[in-house]
Amino acid sequence: MILVVGGTGRLGNQVVRALRDQGKEVRALVRKGSEYFWLNDTGTNYFFGDLRDSQSLHRALRDCETVISCASVRVEQTDNSHKTIADGHVALWEAAKARGVKKAIFVSCSAVAVGGDIAAFSSKRAIEESLAASGIPYTVFRPGLFAGNFADLLRRADHNGSVFLPGRVDAMVAPVHARDVAEVVAAAVDSDEGLDEVVDLAGPEAMTVESAWKTACEEAGLKPNYWKMPPATLKIAAAAVRPLVRRWANHFEALGVHFGQPQATDGVAAAARFGVALTPYREAIRVAWLDRHPGEDPVAREEKVVHRQFVATIYEPGTIKYDALPDGPPPRQD
Ligand SMILES: NC(=O)c1ccc[n+]([C@@H]2O[C@H](COP(=O)([O-])OP(=O)(O)OC[C@H]3O[C@@H](n4cnc5c(N)ncnc54)[C@H](OP(=O)(O)O)[C@@H]3O)[C@@H](O)[C@H]2O)c1
Repeated sequence: MILVVGGTGRLGNQVVRALRDQGKEVRALVRKGSEYFWLNDTGTNYFFGDLRDSQSLHRALRDCETVISCASVRVEQTDNSHKTIADGHVALWEAAKARGVKKAIFVSCSAVAVGGDIAAFSSKRAIEESLAASGIPYTVFRPGLFAGNFADLLRRADHNGSVFLPGRVDAMVAPVHARDVAEVVAAAVDSDEGLDEVVDLAGPEAMTVESAWKTACEEAGLKPNYWKMPPATLKIAAAAVRPLVRRWANHFEALGVHFGQPQATDGVAAAARFGVALTPYREAIRVAWLDRHPGEDPVAREEKVVHRQFVATIYEPGTIKYDALPDGPPPRQD
């Protein structure tokens, strides 16, 4: 059994799908407010818990050989911050050790290498370090920007006519398809490749942020209108809002690093170690633009949410024996 933490996220749901495609037994740790039902068609089991509840982590890990975490916060909330996520991972590794888990995989972020003491990155560095110190065989993946980030900007441009490009438009990046990252993570479960290593991941082509944006617009048939929001402006904005709203200050600082630092590495070779061939950027953009997460599709939200909630299989911690768990709900017919 593989426990996936953060399985409802943009990367995490692809990881669950990649593992289920390989026929693996997957248990997703989901929060009660999570939109977990979008995973119903995968036949994954759900376990209600939270990184901030260490007892739930211990229970969720029963009979698991592997734990994978893609959990993170983009914009902090009052009760769910970079710090609580970091502390939660320390508890996760402790629980995994106590449960005899044989491998732990953590999806971090390439910006950790350059992010200094910015909360979004120093917290991920702390998670990486606590995993390395736990004694559990591990792999940390540090992907660079996802192609999906540019698809998000496209949606904004489609709505508003233009976007702010945060960071440095001339920074070299190699946007990677999140599905490729998920394939690599799934392949790492049974592989000795990357054992006790930090593995950088990136897309197959290096380009500037500006050319990534222009190519994305070409693929989507939109005008590449944009405004610059350089790191210096983001820093001023962060300093201005910090006394009032710390989470937005942290978010602005993180954006400046995400889009402002050179990130290109040899993505092709790194993915090949795990037997994964990378998707070209144009194709990744087409998929990310057309194939959006159902939670972001207003029609799907209206029509499918209720249906999916009915077919969801709900397990409360401690109320069912794990050997009695069924395979999960049947695949959707509609
Ligand atoms: N997006 C990018 O461009 C990018 C690039 C490189 C690396 N990465 C890294 O890849 C990882 C995944 O990113 P993503 O974009 O897929 O993130 P995401 O969509 O924001 O998903 C975050 C996940 O974490 C879960 N989570 C949040 N707080 C939690 C808590 N207290 N307990 C348990 N689960 C919790 C969320 O659950 P809910 O559904 O309940 O909110 C969600 O499933 C992150 O480490 C990120 O830094 C992302």
